[in-house]
Amino acid sequence: MPKAELPASAADGAFEVPRHVAIIMDGNGRWAAARGLPRTEGHRRGVEALRATVRAAGEMGIGVLTIFSFSSENWSRPPAEVRDLMGLLRRFIRHDLADLHRNNVRVRVIGERDDLAPDIRRLLEEAEELTRANDGLIVVVAFNYGARQEIARAAQRLAADVAAGKLALEAITAEALGSRLDAADLPDPDLIIRTSGEQRLSNFLLWQAAYSELVFVPAYWPDFDRATLEGAIEEYRRRERRFGGLVARTGS
Ligand code: FPP
Repeated sequence: MPKAELPASAADGAFEVPRHVAIIMDGNGRWAAARGLPRTEGHRRGVEALRATVRAAGEMGIGVLTIFSFSSENWSRPPAEVRDLMGLLRRFIRHDLADLHRNNVRVRVIGERDDLAPDIRRLLEEAEELTRANDGLIVVVAFNYGARQEIARAAQRLAADVAAGKLALEAITAEALGSRLDAADLPDPDLIIRTSGEQRLSNFLLWQAAYSELVFVPAYWPDFDRATLEGAIEEYRRRERRFGGLVARTGS
């Protein structure tokens, strides 16, 4: 699949940024508990941090921002919390879609849609449809997303092509599988940020993370802001990226 055209990074050239930043937005519950508030309040404040982050990413000239909004494993939370997270997504799309569209943001969605309520599926499709022609920041919403499940889906697509005689067994390569992932036209993340001090990927973008730089920040997600994002990017820029070779390429 051809790679998507991305907007030129860092419009003013003053602060070079990675093309693709992915974020594991963790710590809403702990943020709330630390204040004696219900977890729902942590998620609500998490949406506010998300709005500010999307704005900052657009202003900074980041090409793609992927956000882990609901994992395949989040269904195991208490039903009331699952309902709350679904409600937040509904409200986020209903309230923010027009604004995102006005700001030239293109919304993409990765994850398994079949298990979602029909109205949520429709909202996600509507967001993708409305913003399809926008050529600013691409926001990839990972919703009901798990990386192992995504890789299994890609393997099913490969197997279907082999069974249909469209693909030879010997043509199964990493590239062939990668090209069947949910958003195969987008570049792999250069930088993956996880908030709340936890240091793991938790089934997020396992295939695409092969050469991503990982930055873990102590802040809980509701406290994440432009300064935290800039700090993570500064840390990324200090890293040497060698992609398995010997010659270092600079961060962004
Ligand atoms: C992790 O906090 C966060 C999530 C499970 C979901 C992230 C969701 C949002 C930022 C708001 C929803 C946004 C949309 C668009 C649906 P946690 O609950 O795991 O926190 P904890 O580890 O401290 O308990």
